[in-house]
Amino acid sequence: MNVLVTGGAGYIGSHTVRLLEKAGSNVVVYDNLVTGHRDAVKNSTFVEGDIFDSTLLADTIKRYEINSVVHFAAYSLVGVSMVNPRDYYHNNVVGTLNLLDVMMANGVNKLVFSSTAAVYGEPDTSPITEDVMKNPTNVYGRTKLIMENAMADYSRTYGLKYIALRYFNACGADTAGDIGEDHQPETHLIPLVLKACLGKTDRLKIFGDDYPTKDGTCVRDYVHVNDLGQAHVLALKALYNGHESDIYNLGNGSGFTVKEIIETAESVTGMAAPKEVAPRRAGDPAVLVASSGKIRQDLGWQPEYTDIKNIIATAWRWHKGNPDGFSG
Ligand code: UFG
Repeated sequence: MNVLVTGGAGYIGSHTVRLLEKAGSNVVVYDNLVTGHRDAVKNSTFVEGDIFDSTLLADTIKRYEINSVVHFAAYSLVGVSMVNPRDYYHNNVVGTLNLLDVMMANGVNKLVFSSTAAVYGEPDTSPITEDVMKNPTNVYGRTKLIMENAMADYSRTYGLKYIALRYFNACGADTAGDIGEDHQPETHLIPLVLKACLGKTDRLKIFGDDYPTKDGTCVRDYVHVNDLGQAHVLALKALYNGHESDIYNLGNGSGFTVKEIIETAESVTGMAAPKEVAPRRAGDPAVLVASSGKIRQDLGWQPEYTDIKNIIATAWRWHKGNPDGFSG
């Protein structure tokens, strides 16, 4: 398998690249390094390029005889998407359509696509199965849902074979400790708690403690980044084996409140994170927990990291060893 990984210098991308290589794929990372990190790409062939650059994309596909694509390259910050929708529609929708055009024009029809739990919005049911109503409450989720619909149409009409993976809360880091989460700005809970323990950020804000949950804070489904990566390996293999286009949730299936995550992180680090309760963050659903039964059954996905303390410990190893991320 000769796989082009767009966004392979990013958080989930870099972990997936490592797992694809372990599984025997030849990987070419294609990343414009706007949000990705060159140092997150260790051994793979690296092409610095943009998904809007059709010529470079086509040349890369031909040069490395690419026969499938794993597409991570996208903007992914929910809050930023609400104040800067143009960039999100442009990059995540127009950019992905451009990638699809170049793929199809060069005979590449297999694609694993990064989607998100944000496509659901605030569903009434929990755990969430793939078939519940999609009603995204933010621009980021809408861009991903648009692409899911476009891929379904391309699959029907042009023979695209894709698997879209809807991630719940990606977290943790490879146990090697040399790659991990490094977003600018960082908005995610686990890295922010760990950075607060290290004194690298301001006081942590708990966004709302008046939700209808057991301690009043939001419940999320935290899934280790290597388990997400492994799902991409399985999805790609399935496409090579003739699997039809499909969509799967990826989560652990159990929910933790914000306060539980903070307490667990404090017990992992042995340090207290300075924190305060703040108003709710706009657009945050109270509870988001995945049913991942479909991918377990169809593709045999089995998350390896099921213990939240262990998951946070892998993230802690990365943050402690790299308090300034890749720029340290
Ligand atoms: N939170 C805080 N304080 C912070 C940061 C987060 O209390 O400083 C809370 C949030 O309110 C939320 C929980 O911690 O309840 C998790 O927040 P994250 O920002 O870590 O993650 P989200 O659940 O908001 O976002 C995740 C993915 C997105 C995806 C979304 C789907 O990171 O890519 O789930 O809803 F779009």
